[in-house]
Amino acid sequence: MVGAMTTTATSAPVLPPLRIGRHVVESPVVLAPMAGITNRAFRRLCREYGAAGAEAGGASGATSLYVAEMVTSRALVERTPETMRLISHGPEEQPRSVQLYSVDPATAGLAARMLVTEDLADHIDLNFGCPVPKVTRKGGGAALPWKTELFRGIVSSVVREAARFDVPVTVKMRVGIDAEHVTYLDAGRIAEAEGRRPSPCTAGRRRRRTRGRPTGRRSRASRRR
Ligand SMILES: Cc1cc2nc3c(=O)[nH]c(=O)nc-3n(C[C@H](O)[C@H](O)[C@H](O)COP(=O)(O)O)c2cc1C
Repeated sequence: MVGAMTTTATSAPVLPPLRIGRHVVESPVVLAPMAGITNRAFRRLCREYGAAGAEAGGASGATSLYVAEMVTSRALVERTPETMRLISHGPEEQPRSVQLYSVDPATAGLAARMLVTEDLADHIDLNFGCPVPKVTRKGGGAALPWKTELFRGIVSSVVREAARFDVPVTVKMRVGIDAEHVTYLDAGRIAEAEGRRPSPCTAGRRRRRTRGRPTGRRSRASRRR
């Protein structure tokens, strides 16, 4: 893998650095959160290969963003041992990026407060992209941005807490629930109004699956991103 990078090496940056609040991410590639995958060991491997790639002149870099596995705000506030393990980071990890899932502004705010006051994260990503029907049927995950005031409440309470410690917040979302419920534009505007940005690892290129297959094509606006 490193050898292949060497042969295609280029020193010119592919894109300008990504700026997320106080963080400057040099790499044009970020590691999206994946439950059961992006654990501490996996992130460390990615960072090491990123550093090797950067040294070989490639586009990847050790200064990229490597998002941890999603945790629920409720489990974090309750400090379940498994959740505390999931948000643990190695000393080499900077910035430490934690993804929160929540359906309740109060709990989301408490979770964010815990992360920033206890110095457990340098970046918070909010997960509004879960496509699992069990979750979306109850109005959570990818369906949550449809309830615009609840969406605004969650983003707002997390931003309020995180901003006190200058910890930036991003929002990861999909284009919408299905072709009839496209939410990304309204949700993006709400998140922007609350002072935050779309996530660099947004899942928004696709709507959640319906009837077992991907729905719709990317909209013109999302293709531009
Ligand atoms: C095994 C696995 C676990 C994932 N877990 C999460 C997660 O915890 N949080 C999240 O926002 N996205 C999660 N994703 C989605 C990825 O972050 C990414 O957005 C997605 O794979 C992009 O492509 P897709 O939308 O076409 O699947 C997961 C994806 C996979 C394959």
